[in-house]
This record gives sequence, structure tokens and C-alpha cells, in this order.
Amino acid sequence: MLVLGIETSCDETSAAVVENGRRVLSNVVLSSLHLHKPFGGVVPEIACRHHAELIDSVIKQAFDKSGCAISEIGLIGVTDNPGLIGALMVGISAAKGIALSHGIKYTGVNHLHAHLYAPIIDNPKIKFPFIGLVVSGGHTNLMLVKGFKDYHNLGQTTDDAVGEAFDKVAKILNLGYPGGPAIEKMAKTGNPQKIKFPRTMLSAGSLDFSFSGIKTSVLNYVQKRKAQSVKRKVNDICASFQEAVVDVIVEKSVRACENKKINTLVVGGGVSINSRLRGKLQEACKISRINIYFPSRGLCMDNAAMVAGLAYQQHK
Ligand code: KG4
Ligand code: ZN
Repeated sequence: MLVLGIETSCDETSAAVVENGRRVLSNVVLSSLHLHKPFGGVVPEIACRHHAELIDSVIKQAFDKSGCAISEIGLIGVTDNPGLIGALMVGISAAKGIALSHGIKYTGVNHLHAHLYAPIIDNPKIKFPFIGLVVSGGHTNLMLVKGFKDYHNLGQTTDDAVGEAFDKVAKILNLGYPGGPAIEKMAKTGNPQKIKFPRTMLSAGSLDFSFSGIKTSVLNYVQKRKAQSVKRKVNDICASFQEAVVDVIVEKSVRACENKKINTLVVGGGVSINSRLRGKLQEACKISRINIYFPSRGLCMDNAAMVAGLAYQQHK
């Protein structure tokens, strides 16, 4: 079955054609990131307008690249929550319009569940149940996943999402938007042990997250020092911040696996591209004998291939 996937939950306008949930025939992603840069974060109105202007051409490109015709599509999968409401509506309206005019079924897909499908596209041997870790600009969630329609939330952020923390710290350090790639780059030549930023674990055994404290710590650290001194230490600040955030995520992810006695961890979302996070998660999972899976680099960020893939599995 060929599935058309549509994703417009935040700042990426994306359409994909995927066969049987695994063979990605096309995955077109057009980001409005450059338009948000001057504001240091996603501006909903700009994102929505970008989707509305580009959705038709992105879908057309997805068909052209796949070599498939609309008449061959058996199902349309569209992200229907969570996300910016106006942005979601553009994708949902497009999906409904195509579905109605061509007599094709359509189904709504949860964006977080789709992120956890991204690693499954390349790793068909992943078996249920698994622990899912979503680390993105809007979410930080640990989930127990028992099936393609069976997700149980175990923990989530109580304030900032992890990607949001990267973005806010980058703003404090004048590194531009999005913050994740900029901080990772700086951190590569910094000392992660140099500054002891807090690792907020919340109550004993909790699987919830909190990243606003560390962001404030970085702000306090910067405000107490002269601009020149901060500039000299920016690599160490980035490395120490990244290390603290990664330590918390690693500890809680392993804890979730151990609590539920599950030896598979599946990671998804924009922050899952971070090499320090990948490295430390892999290390910890090796010690605890947990099999860990990440998305391929092209499927970490928001994209419609993961939406089409999960739509197929849920429909099946
Ligand atoms: O999943 P995603 O594309 O969008 C949401 O669903 O939110 O994630 C975007 C987030 C941004 O906050 C961005 O700063 C972060 O992913 N990100 C990174 C890296 N690349 C992107 N965070 C840490 N390290 C990176 N290399
Ligand atoms: Zn996302």
C-alpha cells in the first residue's frame, strides 16, 4: 500500500510517499526556519502562512519524486496533534481535501508517536514492548509503547522541553537559532566538566523532566561575568550545559527501562541527532544491556515519512 504522509505541526512543511510503512519513495521537507531566525524562536503566524503557501507544491514535489500518481495512494496520514493549531489545520485541510476529492481514506497521526516510528523505518527488527524517548523542540517524553496504537506516557517535562532549553541557552550566549546545532558545535571543543550546572532529577524515581533550572543557571553564570570572559569560555559553557542535560536524559531513560523491565529503547525527535546524547545513551545502554535505536539523520527532524509510516501501521 502506498501512503501519502503530511506533516505541518511546527515549522516544517513536509509531504512523503511511503510504501508499506517502510520504503520511503519521497520525503520532501521545506522548513520556514530561516524566517524565524530573527525572532530567536518559531513565530506561529509565520509558520502557518508558510505552510498555507507551500503545502500544495510540497505535496506535488512528493508525488513527482516518488514517481507515483495520486490514484495509486491507498491512505493519507496527517499529523493531527500535538502542534501549533493553525499549522496543524493547514495539513489536515490538505489531507481532507485530497481524501474527499479522490475517494481516499485518511487518518490522523500523533506527532510524538510518529517521531518514535522514525527509527522503526530502518530497523524492522524492533519489537514491542519498548521504551520510547522523544526529545524535540516542543517535547521531552518517556513512553511505554506496547503497539502501534498503544502508548502510555511515563514522564514528561514540567517546564521547558529539552530542545527549547538548547534554543534558550543559545539565545543567552548569542549563538543564534536554532540553538541545538550551534551548542553541539561549540561543545565539541569545550570541557564538559568545567562548570557544574545542576542536574534536576525531581522527586526520587520520577520520570518527569525539568530544564528551566539549568537554563536559569546558565543565565546567572553569564550575568555574573564580563562579556569578554563569557566569550572566552563559551565552548566550556556549551559543553557543560549539554553534559548536564544529557546526564539527566540518560539516567531517566535507563531508569524507565529498568522500572518496566524492558530492554529496548527507541529514541526520536530533533535532539536525537545530538552526538553527545547518542554517545552517552549508547554507553549507558551497553552497561545495562539495553538495545537502543535512533532514527537515521534525515528522519530526526520533523518529516512526513514517519507520519506516513505510522499511519500505514495503524491502519493495518
Ligand atoms: O523534532 P523537531 O524538529 O521539532 C519539534 O517537534 O519540536 O526538533 C527541533 C529541536 C530544536 O529545539 C533544535 O534546537 C533541536 O531540535 N536540535 C538539536 C540539535 N539539532 C536540532 N538539539 C541538540 N543538538 C542538536 N544537534
Ligand atoms: Zn517534532
